[in-house]
Formats: sequence, C-alpha cells, structure tokens
Amino acid sequence: MENIVKVFKGTGFSSLSAQEIEILENHLFCIDGKGMIVKRLAPSDSSYQSTLQAAKDEQKLIELKEGQYLLPGFIDLHIHAPQWAQSGTALDIPLYQWLNTYTFPLEAKFEDTAFAKKVYAHLVDTLLANGTTTGLYFATVHEEASYLLADICARKGQRGLVGKVVMDDAEQNPADYRDEDTESALADTERFIQRVKALQAETVQGVYPVVTPRFVPCCTDEALAGLGKLAEKYDVHVTSHCSESDWEHGYVKERFGKHDTQVLNDFGLLRDKSVMAHCNFLSDADAATFKETGTAIAHCPISNAYFANSVIPIKQFHEQGVEVGLGTDLSGGYDPSVYSAIRQAVISSRMLEDGVDTKKAPEERGTDHSRITVKEAFYFATVGGGESVRLPIGRLAEQYAFDAQVIDTTVAQASMPIFDENEPLEDIFQKLLYLTKRENIVSVWVQGKQINE
Ligand code: GUN
Ligand code: FE
Repeated sequence: MENIVKVFKGTGFSSLSAQEIEILENHLFCIDGKGMIVKRLAPSDSSYQSTLQAAKDEQKLIELKEGQYLLPGFIDLHIHAPQWAQSGTALDIPLYQWLNTYTFPLEAKFEDTAFAKKVYAHLVDTLLANGTTTGLYFATVHEEASYLLADICARKGQRGLVGKVVMDDAEQNPADYRDEDTESALADTERFIQRVKALQAETVQGVYPVVTPRFVPCCTDEALAGLGKLAEKYDVHVTSHCSESDWEHGYVKERFGKHDTQVLNDFGLLRDKSVMAHCNFLSDADAATFKETGTAIAHCPISNAYFANSVIPIKQFHEQGVEVGLGTDLSGGYDPSVYSAIRQAVISSRMLEDGVDTKKAPEERGTDHSRITVKEAFYFATVGGGESVRLPIGRLAEQYAFDAQVIDTTVAQASMPIFDENEPLEDIFQKLLYLTKRENIVSVWVQGKQINE
C-alpha cells in the first residue's frame, strides 16, 4: 500500500467502447501519489478484502454512500472562455452577425485582465461544479489574458488546454479586436506556448498551450503557415473551427477553391493532437484526412442547431475511424454542462435519422444509420475526448488519471426517481446521464485531488 494514497470504494460506470459500458459494482479504485488509478479491484478479486482492510487501517479509504455513483470527469473539447459573459444571449442571429455585433466587442474587453480574471474564475468554477475536469479553451487574442486563463485552471486544479486566439487579417477583423500584425500574432503565440509549458511543469494535472487560429476567415495565409510550423516545433495541440456554417464553408471555398480540411492540412494544422470544432460539412474525403492525420472532431450539437442549422452524422464519421469528443461551444451553445451536450447529441441524432420532415412518408425521411444512444454520447464525453487530446483520461481504469465526479441521486431538491432498491445498474446509469443536475454532483476529482471541497 506504500504507493497508494487513496482508495475509493463504490459503484462506477466507465466506457469500454462506443457501444459498451463497464458497470463497476462496489469496486476499489486505488490511487497513487501522482493521481493515477494504479489498481482497480472487483469484489471477486483475491486481493479485494485485504486491500479494503489495509485502506481502512491506514485511513486511506473514501467510501461512497448509498445512492452515490462514480462517473469519469467529463472532457469539454470546445469552450470559448470569454463568451461565458454572454452565455444565453443573442442566439437568434446568424454566425457572421453574431461574431461582429456581440462576440468580437465582448472579446475585445479581455485586454483588461481584471475583467478577464472575474469572468474566467467564475467560468472555471462553474465548469468544475458541472463535472468538467478537462477543458479545451479558446481565450482571446490577448496574450496576457490568455495566460491568465491557463493560470486560473492551474490554480483551481482543472486540466486546461488553452489557446491564445489568432486573428491577424486586417481586412477581415475589426480594427479594435485583432492581432496587431502577422508577425506579432506568431511571436505572441510562441511566447504563450513557452510560458504555458513552464506553468505546466508546476501542476499535477497539467495545463497545455494550444495553437489556435480562430478559423480560416480570420487569418492570413502567412499566419496559418506560421502556426503550422509552431505546432510542429513545440509538438503542441491545435484547435480551430472547421466547416461550421454555409457562410464560413463557402468563404473558404471561394478563397482557396478547397474545403477547410484541405486548407488546414496544407498549412500543417491537422496533426495527431488537433481538435476541430463542428465539422458540419465534411466530405468523405475530408473525413479520411481527419483519420489519416489523427485529427479529432469536437462535436457541438447545441451550437450546431443555432449557427449551422444542422445535425452532423457523427456516428458515421466515428465509424469511419475519426475520433470524436463533445463540446459545449460556450456561448454558441448556451449551457456550460457537458450533460446537456450529451442529451442534445442524442436528441439531434434521432431527428437526423427519423424526424426531419414529417410531411414525407417514413421511408423517405432522414438519414439512415445516424442515431446514437446515450452510451455513445457518454463515450464521446469521456473516452473520445481523452483520445482526441491524447491524454490518459476519460476512463475509470488502471493507468488513467483519477478524474471523477460523484453523483448523489438522493440530494435534497434534486433527488432522482429511483424507487426500486434492486433497479438494474444499467438503468441507473441512464438516469444519471439524463437527470443529473449540478446539485447532484457532490464532489469532483482531478488527478486524484478533490477540487470542490
Ligand atoms: N467561428 C469563429 N469564431 C467562432 C465562435 O466564437 N463561435 C462559433 N460558434 N463559431 C465561430
Ligand atoms: Fe466555437
């Protein structure tokens, strides 16, 4: 037991594949000093009783109460941190107008680091309280405020992947909200990468710098090429928006005569640690490029409904071998909870398959083989997210970080309708995914450390 600092005892759920979950009834999860799950024991394992006894004797045991369950922490692959300040507003206008009249003026305010600190601290607390243990963030064009976001994640214990946004094209971006020029966009990004890498070394859970061209329309060719080189030089994550709306997709086609996927790939931005948001209009060839380069899709079903008026056939892309995770896309998506993204991913997929136009005969409706189950959405929110960012997270399994949320189905004000003490755990799992509210998430753990004490 020397290398084990905590032992959790309780019932948990973890994804095995997009189709299958593991039901870990009354298991022991043994965690080492680095916050990794080093041993997972079922009651039938020969060392279960002796480990349990030792954990009690050494006061290392944390036992879940009746009605409490363990889930892996969720991974949100697409968050615009500054937009938290406008969440829930302005969702009734198209993307281009929304960016120019609401979003860019709001993001410009993050030059003020005092304002940034207020918004970012509130956001990170909110995400952790909702069970999001890892977040992939767009900050703003400002190096200082972007670093501040990484620092807040580091101090609050969340695993943050943070990008200083690049928007250098003077023709496309507002004069008061863009990089000064291409050279400074690249220099600021490089310094940001170095600073966050230094910060990373001070944390147990890890914070990571991300190369972040906002999207092709905001960037010059020189900036895109320079960012591709920086991604390679420092071997860091890359994120952007890809083929999001008709307007954006059409703009890129007109400028380059190609789809976003090919443009991003030509500039060296599709790599094995790249995560591209939306991807509503990927062709089969684009999807093959994602697979070959190891690029993942951040599926954002709520904002896709608002800004792209679309449902993407995420099941088909995943079956073609593209890795998929979920994103809230705050504030194109209004809800900070990955639970809401899970629910919307399922609902939207059902509508794509069956319910698109009820005036058509059933056999003429929808897109076959599109619907996903809640198990698949759970896979995307956990294992898929972890594999997308190439980190050992998203499973309650050995050699994975202990990132977890304890869900209490009995809390006052939010108790769940569980009336049969022998209700199958498979059904409880579904209730957890559909009914969990923030109040039910009674503790959150990142890399073995409790965050919300
Ligand atoms: N495309 C470029 N910027 C943005 C943004 O902030 N949100 C969304 N949803 N799409 C974008
Ligand atoms: Fe976005």
